Amino acid sequence: MRWRRPRPALAKGGMARITYIEKDGTRHDVEVPKGVSVMEGAKRYAIPGIEGDCGGACACATCHVYVEDGWLEKLGPMEELEHDMLDFAFDVRPTSRLSCQIKVDDALEGLVVRIPQRQY
Ligand code: FES
Repeated sequence: MRWRRPRPALAKGGMARITYIEKDGTRHDVEVPKGVSVMEGAKRYAIPGIEGDCGGACACATCHVYVEDGWLEKLGPMEELEHDMLDFAFDVRPTSRLSCQIKVDDALEGLVVRIPQRQY
């Protein structure tokens, strides 16, 4: 498997490997700079299905993802605002999160997220 990387200037703080899986099963194995959100990582690689209309302000729910089994505990609990905003997302499940609220760090090396059928 070949991992896609961002430009060197974006990778100064280190990288974490994240896999995004589209609704049709297409996998995107990419390296995302630590400190940015999972939503921002998707936008940098133009991964379809994560829109992020509000730019990460937790005000749109168009960055909804399903976190793969075993990862939910590593993300920590949701803030109340994210929980409330998820009410506006399509087909919410127990593993649903808003990817703009997930900051990439060492603990998320290897994270896998699935993109829902649609965002709203
Ligand atoms: Fe709008 Fe995540 S980008 S809620």
